[in-house]
Amino acid sequence: MRLRRGKAFFDSAARICRGMMRPEIYRMIYERACESADFDILELGAAGGAATVAAACGLVDSHKKSVLYTVEKGDGENSSRERLGNREQNLRTLNRNLKIFSCSEKVSVIDSRVAEASGKMPAGLKFSMLIIDADGLINRDFELFYNSCIPGADIIIDDYSEVKDFGSRSVNCPLGKKYTTFRLVNYFIGKGLIRRESLSGDTIFCRKPTEIAGPAQFDETEISSVMEDIKTEREESAGI
Ligand SMILES: C[S@@+](CC[C@H](N)C(=O)[O-])C[C@H]1O[C@@H](n2cnc3c(N)ncnc32)[C@H](O)[C@@H]1O
Repeated sequence: MRLRRGKAFFDSAARICRGMMRPEIYRMIYERACESADFDILELGAAGGAATVAAACGLVDSHKKSVLYTVEKGDGENSSRERLGNREQNLRTLNRNLKIFSCSEKVSVIDSRVAEASGKMPAGLKFSMLIIDADGLINRDFELFYNSCIPGADIIIDDYSEVKDFGSRSVNCPLGKKYTTFRLVNYFIGKGLIRRESLSGDTIFCRKPTEIAGPAQFDETEISSVMEDIKTEREESAGI
């Protein structure tokens, strides 16, 4: 497929939307959205909408009928938006950015925390792409939405890095969002629920194996033990 958007488009999406990833990553998201099956896309953590714009423009350019649902809480703990304005201002900025890039018709902004988002979206949605960049709680994201992803769906997760943040004040991610993401994504790769395709910077591009057609079960004991390990690492590093 010949892609319609060049480097300048992704540079300006990253700049205007104050994107937190490199323009090259937005191009990769766009390409995958162009090539994906015609099912909806779900994004968790839109911020200013740079990845939202990339994926939604992929849907537009490949003439799909599907839309993109993006979940964004707009403020509070783990929000990169907090320093930019209050919740209303940040959500207004997101909607304005979608208009600037002429893709607002393709995007439904779910003004919510991830945990409550399902109740605000139509029931029974199926996703060909899941973009995760909220707060590192990949286990929650998977438990809520993995089974709504079609076999072969793209699963793109940002902030996958072994770097530990010893200054993290997050109770849920005591060594920071990146390390929590790294550990949980590795756990899910190990369980065979996702297959790693490539890593670009801290963004990991994975796919749900096509063989997984039925609902996956999540083992709470194993997931809690990954989270406990992270907590123990932090406590040991602090000499507790
Ligand atoms: C790292 S930013 C996303 C950056 C964006 N992907 C980009 O390309 O620029 C994370 C966003 O997730 C949102 N967020 C964090 N935790 C959330 C949660 N539990 N529910 C909904 N949104 C959340 C934050 O408000 C923030 O805007």
